[in-house]
Amino acid sequence: MRSIIHCLIFFSLFLSCTRTDRSEDLSQLVDEELSFSLEQYKLMAQSLPDANRLPRTTSRDDGSLVTSGTDWWCSGFFPGSLWYLYEYSGNPEILAEAKRRTAVLEREKFNTGTHDLGFMLFNSFGNGYRLTDDLQYRDILITGAKSLISRYNDTIGCIQSWDHGNWQFPVIVDNMMNLEYLFWATRITGDSSFYRIAVNHANKTIQNHYRDDWSSYHLVDYNPSTGEVIKKQTVQGAFDESAWARGQAWGFYGFTVAFRETGNPEYLEAAKNIALFLLNHPNLPDDMVPYWDFNAPEIPDAKRDASSASILSSALLELQRYVDEDLANTYMHAAEKIIRTLSSPSYRSEPGENNNFILMHSVGSLPGNSEVDVPLTYADYYYIEALMRFREVFANE
Ligand code: GLY
Repeated sequence: MRSIIHCLIFFSLFLSCTRTDRSEDLSQLVDEELSFSLEQYKLMAQSLPDANRLPRTTSRDDGSLVTSGTDWWCSGFFPGSLWYLYEYSGNPEILAEAKRRTAVLEREKFNTGTHDLGFMLFNSFGNGYRLTDDLQYRDILITGAKSLISRYNDTIGCIQSWDHGNWQFPVIVDNMMNLEYLFWATRITGDSSFYRIAVNHANKTIQNHYRDDWSSYHLVDYNPSTGEVIKKQTVQGAFDESAWARGQAWGFYGFTVAFRETGNPEYLEAAKNIALFLLNHPNLPDDMVPYWDFNAPEIPDAKRDASSASILSSALLELQRYVDEDLANTYMHAAEKIIRTLSSPSYRSEPGENNNFILMHSVGSLPGNSEVDVPLTYADYYYIEALMRFREVFANE
């Protein structure tokens, strides 16, 4: 039944879309947007001469640039974006800047107080290692991966997300994004424990975070002694049973990667089902940039979240590689639509504006009244990644 619905929905939504139907100007758009991103992030780097300060967002009080230290969960996104922009341009100045911004994060390899080391270290050192084979980067990454798995509980089968709050062992769906780092660590070291932990975490996430319709809870709290679920709830979403948009995008991206790394068809099915939930959702706007929560009570006046859109587009561009041609076309078309919207003046900054961030209009935590309708480094990072993935598609056609 599910597969029939799949076909009908996608058939009606994207009736005549094939790879060859894609507008010829898409390749040009991708190139223009990457060139723009490169220039914009050069300005960002100039505006922040101290490498220890990383861009975070824009203040809603006075419009100024808000920065963070290396211990903020987003510290890897700016260096990671610089690595992608170096990959795009081959520009030696960007390479030097990427190295400089990455180096300051080394201290986080000993940070055992967060599950976000994938974002912090793998996006920065990981991209750096991928592009330079620098063995020092590899060693830093291995140390960081050991710090990350120190948060694993074998009774539960998950990595603990947060140390704050009144939970016993909180796991948020966002944590699916850290698994890529662990799969990499097993490949590089030959130590299968990273892989085993990643697989256990993914399996538990399917079991306890996902609902029958393939939407996800934000947070599941576990009893660390018995492994039992204590509570399922939201923190950054509209209400416990709602579908917080970025959480859905994190999970979608995470299961796509988990399939790539394991070949387990269960993860492929999970990713396809999450895509179905998202792309077919009645509250997904026509321009494909989600509201901050798919069930936000204030829809259609709810704030949009560009970060969810950019994560979604990047993951769609990966998932299309693993599915049949019809579905691949559907995913490609959806990713194209998102990128076109994000690249329009509604979301993309003008040169030198927006505190030199690339995209506008993301939401960090609306219930926390934090980072609402502002630029965020992770919206930019996955936007650039999606653009790079489009380039790869064009290169292989
Ligand atoms: N991982 C935190 C967030 O997505 O806001």
